[in-house]
Amino acid sequence: MDLFEKIAGKTSPLGQFAKDAHHYYTFPKLEGELAPHMMFRGKEVLNWSLNNYLGLGNHPEVRKADADAAAAWGCAYPMGARMMSGNTDYHEELERQLAEFEQKEDAILLNFGYQGILSAIDALVDRRDVIVYDAESHACIIDGVRLHQGKRFVYAHNDIENLERQLVRAKKMADQQDGAILVITEGVFGMSGNQGNLREIVELKSKFDFRLMVDDAHGFGTLGPNGEGAGVEQGIQDDIDIYFSTFAKSMASIGAFIAGDEVIINYLRYSMRSQIFAKSLPMPFVIGALKRLDMLKSQPQHKENLWKITNALQGALKKEGFDIGTTTSCVTPVILKGNIAEATHLTYDLRENFNIFCSIVVYPVVPKDVIMLRLIPTAVHKLEDVDRTIKAFQVVKKKLANGDYKAEKLAAFS
Ligand SMILES: Cc1ncc(COP(=O)(O)O)c(C=O)c1O
Repeated sequence: MDLFEKIAGKTSPLGQFAKDAHHYYTFPKLEGELAPHMMFRGKEVLNWSLNNYLGLGNHPEVRKADADAAAAWGCAYPMGARMMSGNTDYHEELERQLAEFEQKEDAILLNFGYQGILSAIDALVDRRDVIVYDAESHACIIDGVRLHQGKRFVYAHNDIENLERQLVRAKKMADQQDGAILVITEGVFGMSGNQGNLREIVELKSKFDFRLMVDDAHGFGTLGPNGEGAGVEQGIQDDIDIYFSTFAKSMASIGAFIAGDEVIINYLRYSMRSQIFAKSLPMPFVIGALKRLDMLKSQPQHKENLWKITNALQGALKKEGFDIGTTTSCVTPVILKGNIAEATHLTYDLRENFNIFCSIVVYPVVPKDVIMLRLIPTAVHKLEDVDRTIKAFQVVKKKLANGDYKAEKLAAFS
C-alpha cells in the first residue's frame, strides 16, 4: 500500500472536523495587534484565548527591545548549535539571570519548550530508571516519557494517595535494577488550571528518594511574588530539582529554559539532543527575553493587573453559578454539559452574536458530555470585558439548558 494513500484516508481526532471547522474552530486567524480586542473574520472580537498573561506581547517597551535586537543582530545570529558555534555572552547572561530569578544555581536555554523538555527527560533517565508522572501531563511530557526505555507509572491527576502507591511500585523496581526515580508534574495544569500539589509531592521525597521535575509553563510569570512560579508560590522551590518553563506564555515569545543544580544543568548542556543538534536561539529572542525578565522583576503592575482581572472574572463566574472546576491559577475553565455539536453551536453563537472569542475544549480532552470553554485572562483586559463576558455567558448557558443548540446543523455555519 502507498503510504500517502493510507494517510489520506486517515483523520486525527481533530482533523475529522477540518472540512467544516478549518479557519473557524481550528486554525482561526486572529488579526491586528495582540490584545484583548482583535479582528476575527473581519469583525472585532473580545479575545480570551491568548496565553499572553502579562500583556507583554504588545507592550511598547517589549516591541522596541525586539525590534532593536532584530535591527542590530538579524534573525540569523548566532549560527549553529550552542556547543559548536552558536553561543554568545547574551545567551549565558540570560541563563544566569533565569537561574537567579528561579533561585537555582544554573539554567540552560531551550529553543522550544516542547522539544526541550522532551529531550531533557530523555537525557535524564536510562533504562534502569523509573518515571512516575501525573495523568494530566502536557503532551510534551508524555512524549518525553514515550522515549524512556525503562518502566513508567502514571498516577491519577494530583492524587497524592495514588502517587504514593505508584511510588511504592517504582521504588521496588528501581531498587531491584539499581535505578533511580524521576517524578514529573506541572506547576499549573493548562486545562483545569489546577496547581500541581507540589507541597504534598515533595513531602514524599524523603520516603521514596526521587527527583522532581516541574513543567511550570503556566505558573511562570503568574505565580510567586515576581512571577517566579508555582514552586516559589508554594514555598517549595528548593525541592524542585528540575524547574522548566517556556517563554511562550507570560514572556510572550519563543524559547524556554530549565533551571537546577549546576551539575545537572551542565550534564544537560552536554547531553540534550534537542540542543546539541539544533541551532541556538536567535539573538532577538535572547535579548527580548532579557527585557521581559527585567520587566517581570521591575514592573509588578502587570502581574497585579492580571490577578485583578482573574479575580474579577472567576469571582463573577462563581457568583453567577458557573462551574469553573477547581482552578487555583489564572486559567479559567467554564464547564458546561453538552455534546460536541452543541459545543460548536454555542461557540458560534458567542463569536457571531456576542463577539466573544474563547477556546473550546471538547472530547477527547474532556469527557464526551462536557463542553469546556477556556478563558485566559491577561493584564491588558479591562473590567468592562469581564462584565460583557459574564452577561453573554449567562445567555448562552440558558440557551444550552433550553436545548437551543441541539437542532442547528454544523453545515449552516460554514
Ligand atoms: C504545560 C506546557 N508545557 C510545555 C509547552 C511547550 O512549550 P513551547 O510552546 O515553548 O514549545 C506548553 C505549550 O506551550 C505547555 O502548555
